[in-house]
Amino acid sequence: MQIQAQRLRLPSTRLDGVCGIIAITRNPAAAGEQPLAGLLIDCLERLEYRGYDSAGIALLVGGMESDGADDATIWRIRAAVSTQSLQEIKKRVQSAPRPPRSDSAGIGHTRWATHGRPSEQNAHPHLDCTGNIAVVHNGIVENWRELAEELTASGHELASETDSEVIAHLIEDELRMDTGTQLHNNYMTTLEATRRALRRITGSFAIAVLDTRSNSSLVVARRLSPLVVGMGGGMCMAASDLPALLGLSGSYYVLEDGEIAEITPESIKAQDLDGQARTLHPIHVSWDIEAAQKSGYDDFMGKELHEQPTAVMDTLLGRFISDGKLALDETRITDDELREVDKVFIVGCGSSFHSGLVVKHALEHWTRIPTEIDISSEFRYRDPILSSSSLVIGVSQSGETMDTLQAIHLARRLNAKVLAVSNVVDSSITRQSDGVLYTRAGPEIGVAATKTFSTQIVTLQMLALYLAQLRGILYHDETSLIMDQLRDLPRLMQDALDRDEAVRAVAEDIAGQRDLFYIGRNTGYPVALEGALKMKEIAYLRAEAYPAGELKHGPIALIEPGTVVLAVATKGRLQKKMHTNISEVKSRGAKVIAVANDGDTGTAALADHVLYVPETVSLLAPVVDVIPLQLLAYHVARLRGCDVDRPRNLAKTVTVE
Ligand code: AGP
Repeated sequence: MQIQAQRLRLPSTRLDGVCGIIAITRNPAAAGEQPLAGLLIDCLERLEYRGYDSAGIALLVGGMESDGADDATIWRIRAAVSTQSLQEIKKRVQSAPRPPRSDSAGIGHTRWATHGRPSEQNAHPHLDCTGNIAVVHNGIVENWRELAEELTASGHELASETDSEVIAHLIEDELRMDTGTQLHNNYMTTLEATRRALRRITGSFAIAVLDTRSNSSLVVARRLSPLVVGMGGGMCMAASDLPALLGLSGSYYVLEDGEIAEITPESIKAQDLDGQARTLHPIHVSWDIEAAQKSGYDDFMGKELHEQPTAVMDTLLGRFISDGKLALDETRITDDELREVDKVFIVGCGSSFHSGLVVKHALEHWTRIPTEIDISSEFRYRDPILSSSSLVIGVSQSGETMDTLQAIHLARRLNAKVLAVSNVVDSSITRQSDGVLYTRAGPEIGVAATKTFSTQIVTLQMLALYLAQLRGILYHDETSLIMDQLRDLPRLMQDALDRDEAVRAVAEDIAGQRDLFYIGRNTGYPVALEGALKMKEIAYLRAEAYPAGELKHGPIALIEPGTVVLAVATKGRLQKKMHTNISEVKSRGAKVIAVANDGDTGTAALADHVLYVPETVSLLAPVVDVIPLQLLAYHVARLRGCDVDRPRNLAKTVTVE
């Protein structure tokens, strides 16, 4: 499979995962001087750009003795000192006596916590009860709660708070069930036990399994989360992403969705999860490591922009457990306290403020609870009227924005309940709140928020649904319908992203502008604000957003022939008024670029140019409608030679007031 130089779109592979995994099996004779532990760590360091808060490795130690006695065991080292974890592991490996025959097989992991705090106990690799099976996992086991209950009831002892650990115990469970019976005249293989275990899992995974019985072979498998395999130099490797393998393997293969494989230093035996044999297709890769870390995009913002569908999918996974209840990540706010909430305040800065503005409409419509949205630096000083029945939601992707931290400190002093929505597990805001909902977008390296913005919106929408359910205002079938519409958003977002070329053409047309106006109404207004913010912060153009109905109260004085106006005009109950606003600015000579739904000839007849997006219900449309505006700012910035990842004067996290 020929990979285009600038893009690697692995077939049905998600371009992102929030953890990094590595698996290596090699001929000891081919090992050379580098111990396997060091090679595992080196490969994980190449995945550091994915962000992590803990890490671990596990090696097969010992193995078949000349007399046939099998003394193989698993040697595991884990550390949870944030981005120093790999250094800590390296130190411990160097200070530990080198275990015998530890150069044949090993696995490793860098963890970006989604279930369970960053800790050694929660760091991968995870072991089964016997200590003979070690697993590393990237993804989300959606049904992990039910599986953990089932496993515990049958005698398994889980040692961590993570969803991933259940995989090791499921494999053990399959082997236990096989004890005494023979499969094809051999005891069940690790490949077969893993295949059966994975069929019991819903959600996403890329895993590697180390089993003391299997000498130097490993089992790898994936569903939705990425996994690539490399062969050469007397070893076979598997990793979450190509950077870990580049230069170490001679040929590369991609595991397709739902495939599992047993790898040895000389072979790859692949199957689907039904047990049917599969052949892996080689891919040609012409990237260097840096290009691979950006998944082939020229910059992290480009990668993160295009990761939004998978990030939103991860955010939604496993959120509503069997009885339709929302599974909050960590909350010390009881359902009864949430039922008593009589006012909601959402506080945030920049894009996090905009995500609150978007969700205000859905929250009030679904829950009928009055909702105020505040910029954090304003909320702190306006003497807000709060009580113990107020719910203050602090939205912050970094969880470290000083203005928002101070805003929630004020809320707590005034006895309000505080809920944090953040992308960083264990960040300051999460530790200073009564409850947390994580957005699970994975690390966002570009300064401009993109996937964290869209995942904040769907996270807040799920919270709104939960509140509406608790208060009996929406029935389960109503929330189920809305959840289905939410789950369809990644598909619509991907459709909007696939129209990148049309947006790039418009960017070339307006890149020379100095002033841009953005207008929208209802949920379209915060979309206009977010589009303008992106254009300001990465292309350095004066871009101002206004409620479209506000133009006639002053801003329309600024419109003159040639002024470029971006109008968010997707379908909704106010679209006719947007058409009027478009006509108002057109009549004064403006050039109007409208964001509109496919087939909307009415808007097309009024605007000079249309950036089409697929249609969805208006309350959920913002994460789709914002995409052409994100792409527009991205392309204009690049055409203007701006550094989109590190824009001037800005920091990714504003930890000062
Ligand atoms: C958005 O693109 C900017 N990076 C900025 O406005 C950001 O949203 C704001 O600083 C809030 O950051 P937070 O979400 O980490 O609190």
